[in-house]
Amino acid sequence: MSYTIAVAGKGGTGKTTVASLIVKRIIDRKAGPVLAVDADPNSNLAEAFGSDIPVTVGKIMHDFLETKIDIPMGMTKESFLDFKLNTALIETKHLDFIVMGRKHGPGCYCYPNVLLKNFVSKLSGNYPYIVIDNEAGMEHLSRKNAEVIDLLALVADHSVRGLRAVKRVLELADELDIKIKNRILVVNRFRQENAELLAPNIREVGVDNVFTIAEDPLLVRADAEQVPVMRMSEDLEAVRTVARMTDEVVLDAAGGS
Ligand SMILES: Nc1ncnc2c1ncn2[C@@H]1O[C@H](COP(=O)(O)OP(=O)(O)OP(=O)(O)O)[C@@H](O)[C@H]1O
Ligand SMILES: [Mg+2]
Repeated sequence: MSYTIAVAGKGGTGKTTVASLIVKRIIDRKAGPVLAVDADPNSNLAEAFGSDIPVTVGKIMHDFLETKIDIPMGMTKESFLDFKLNTALIETKHLDFIVMGRKHGPGCYCYPNVLLKNFVSKLSGNYPYIVIDNEAGMEHLSRKNAEVIDLLALVADHSVRGLRAVKRVLELADELDIKIKNRILVVNRFRQENAELLAPNIREVGVDNVFTIAEDPLLVRADAEQVPVMRMSEDLEAVRTVARMTDEVVLDAAGGS
């Protein structure tokens, strides 16, 4: 059974940075291989790994629904979609990833989504860790592609609105009856001068395990230079904090894997 980590939070708060740094730590500790799932319609996880964006699951689903794909003789629709979905899986040495992409068109995705769910659960057996970079609305989780989440890492910026947004993510997860075994909060762009003022808002999220990352000029620079997250150095606070967090909560935790 793989250990599933989902990273969720409002747009632009640092989800992809945190998700890819978690992947980096797992690989650096030689605990991989990892399956990274980019479940954000504005996918940028592939870029964080320094790869081109592969064909997305959304596009495959769309072509499937529009019957734009010619099914070879002797192949069922199901097995052909399975084959097509395999082409969306990008394989590298320690890391494979798949990009969900956006939903194309208004069609009903119920049937292909069932097939997608089966595809992801079949894949999951091959990896000790799955890391899902989620969109804010938890759409993919609500489609129950990830039925049990071992760890939900909520990412918020250090503001009242940011912290309320992650609280809503938790409420939504409860409503959708998603089973979450462990949850942590990452307060990104943490500002010491507001620490006291925002402490009640952090407590209100209701997550015991809280990690903070300050605004980091080195990260801004690395981003501008398009350094893939996988190659970012430990000089960066975000790299060190996410490494410590992954060690404590996942790799060195009892029952971590
Ligand atoms: N602590 C930080 N200090 C400086 N820059 C940061 C910090 N955290 C994230 N960033 C930068 O902020 C930008 C947004 O981060 P990221 O892409 O990880 O957010 P996201 O939540 O995935 O966004 P989206 O919702 O658009 O997918 C990136 O350019 C990233 O390098
Ligand atoms: Mg992102």
